[in-house]
Amino acid sequence: MVLVLLLLVISSSSRGAGGARAEDRNTAFSPCDDTTVLKGDGFTFGLLIGSNASFFLQNNRTTQVSPCSLHPEGNLFSTRLSVFRPKVDEISLLIVNYTQVNPENFGLGGYAVAYAGSQFAAVSVPQFLANSSYHITSLSLVLDFDTGRIKTPLWKSDGCKACQGNSSFVCVHGECAIPSKYCKGSGGMEDCSLSIQLTWSGTDQRYQVLNSWYQINNLGQYSLYNLYSNLMSGLSNQYNSYFH
Ligand SMILES: *[C@@H]1O[C@H](CO)[C@@H](O)[C@H](O)[C@H]1NC(C)=O
Ligand SMILES: *[C@@H]1O[C@H](CO)[C@@H](O)[C@H](O)[C@H]1NC(C)=O
Ligand SMILES: *[C@@H]1O[C@H](CO)[C@@H](O)[C@H](O)[C@H]1NC(C)=O
Ligand SMILES: *[C@@H]1O[C@H](CO)[C@@H](O)[C@H](O)[C@H]1NC(C)=O
Ligand SMILES: *[C@@H]1O[C@H](CO)[C@@H](O)[C@H](O)[C@H]1NC(C)=O
Repeated sequence: MVLVLLLLVISSSSRGAGGARAEDRNTAFSPCDDTTVLKGDGFTFGLLIGSNASFFLQNNRTTQVSPCSLHPEGNLFSTRLSVFRPKVDEISLLIVNYTQVNPENFGLGGYAVAYAGSQFAAVSVPQFLANSSYHITSLSLVLDFDTGRIKTPLWKSDGCKACQGNSSFVCVHGECAIPSKYCKGSGGMEDCSLSIQLTWSGTDQRYQVLNSWYQINNLGQYSLYNLYSNLMSGLSNQYNSYFH
């Protein structure tokens, strides 16, 4: 099942020197296509949600499976897939509906890997999302490139700065989380959908530096969750005031 979920493009940092907007010339539209990209291209990657064990070989738990290799020994069928196509070097906020991350679907808890490519497979480590105790509500993902080819998707923890001082949240392994009993789908009222702040680092095909990760990393005081809670009432306007 492929679900394309809400993708908000927050900021454009890819305008060329002449002010002209680069076009998307990347013809790879599946997360499993191998490709190299330029600033301004779209880039397709997958976010696969499942149990931690589902990302490893069943007979060798130290070997992580690439979702694109569909190894017969893996049990990736018990997972859920979202596909995103953000623009290279644009800061984006990806929203995964709470119905996708509901831990009831994944036994001991839901984890996610971000991935792209087959021959040159790039797969993140599994990131904890939710179990019957907690739902993580905001994460930061950096896509790192080397001359236009994806190297590694990296989960970056902000040490719970985004929800500091807000008693609705607890800090779970350095990520903001809401106790599951308050979440929709687990008997509560809160929309515990997951927002993933996406940024870029490394170089594109023409050795141009992708620097949106450094932009956001330097905004130390900035709180993603405050912006996220205003999502329905004009989030992009708020982000624009940060990045323009
Ligand atoms: C598991 O896979 C790793 C890497 O492929 C290998 O080094 C290791 O020997 C394997 N372990 C077993 C028990 O097969
Ligand atoms: C996920 O599974 C791997 C492989 O079995 C294991 O090494 C790792 O500790 C597990 N992570 C968590 C958080 O349970
Ligand atoms: C999430 O999905 C549910 C069920 O399909 C829907 O009612 C809800 O509005 C969705 N939430 C968002 C934020 O899209
Ligand atoms: C859920 O995950 C958290 C963080 O890893 C852990 O502390 C807690 O014990 C887990 N809850 C259950 C019911 O497994
Ligand atoms: C804490 O977070 C909740 C849920 O998003 C929000 O409704 C509330 O306004 C926040 N409180 C503070 C003090 O920021």
